[in-house]
This record gives sequence, C-alpha cells and structure tokens, in this order.
Amino acid sequence: MNILIIYDSFFGNTEKIAFAMRDALQGSATVQCIRIHEVVPEKLNDIDLLIVGSPTRGFRPTKPIVQFLDKLPADILKNVKVAAFDTRIDVAKVNSRFLHFMVRIFGYAAQPIAGRLSRKGGTMGASPEGFIVKESEGPLEDGELERAYKWAKEQAGV
Ligand SMILES: Cc1cc2nc3c(=O)[nH]c(=O)nc-3n(C[C@H](O)[C@H](O)[C@H](O)COP(=O)(O)O)c2cc1C
Repeated sequence: MNILIIYDSFFGNTEKIAFAMRDALQGSATVQCIRIHEVVPEKLNDIDLLIVGSPTRGFRPTKPIVQFLDKLPADILKNVKVAAFDTRIDVAKVNSRFLHFMVRIFGYAAQPIAGRLSRKGGTMGASPEGFIVKESEGPLEDGELERAYKWAKEQAGV
C-alpha cells in the first residue's frame, strides 16, 4: 500500500501530528510525509491513501493547502482513499460567545479539506478529525500524538 501524507504547519504542531501518522503506518506500508511547499502533483500517482492536514487558521485550512487541492485535476483521486485532519484550539475553553458562534458557522480546517478531497474523486474513509493544541503556538494537548497514531492506522486499515 502506498500512502501519502501532506501537511502544512506554522509552529510545528501539525507537523508533529503528521509525523506520528507516518510513524504509525511505516511498518505496514510505503509512506511519504511531505510538507505542502514541497509537494508536486506527480506525488499523487499510484497512491492508495492520501491524508491531508492543516492548522486551522481563521476557521480554514492554510492558503497553500487550499490552492494545491483546488488546482488538482478533477478525478485525480478516483480510486484513492482520502482522509483529512486539522489542528485547532479547543474553543470550549475560550470564554467568547462570539468565537463559539463563529465556530458553529465556519467550523475548522479539516471539513473543507475533506470536501475538496471528495470533489477530486477521493473516497472518504472517516469523518474529518481535529487534534487539539493548548495554545496557538502549541504544545499539543496531552495524548494527541497517540490519538493521531491510532487514527492513521484506522484510516489505512492496518
Ligand atoms: C492567525 C491565527 C488564526 C487562527 N485561527 C484559528 C481558528 O479559526 N480556529 C482554531 O481552532 N484555531 C485557530 N488558530 C490556532 C491554530 O489552529 C494553531 O496555531 C495551530 O493548530 C497550530 O498548528 P501549527 O503549529 O502546525 O501551526 C489560529 C492561530 C493563528 C495564529
């Protein structure tokens, strides 16, 4: 099985999650884990599973992730299993009704990533997943790397 993990990251937290996923899958598959700035569309050739992750910034994925996915040809992900994740703040812990309202309306980065992956023909395995950072710059909430490890194995069925 060929697996590609594409991610973006400003402060390194999403990268840590992506690396945990890579480590989880490496024994059972051929895994490439590539930061968005280094990905070329040819990397999508002959993959069985594509996982894409981004920090949530202004309720959305980062611009490089969005632009990369939007530019892909239609149906390029036909017969490819896809999964989307993000990192995010736990808004339940933020005392702001405005923020809670905004999150209810606009959500997090993983959902629009998943939508794009589906529109390019991918088969979504599971619901988009979010991994929590304690503060904007991190660190990750306790247990999130372990959760990412497990989640990645579930996506790959290994
Ligand atoms: C400019 C900015 C906008 C952000 N917007 C959101 C947001 O809309 N929702 C959210 O949950 N977290 C938001 N965050 C927190 C980021 O999700 C957090 O910085 C990110 O998960 C860290 O991942 P990274 O280390 O890979 O960059 C924002 C952070 C910054 C700096």
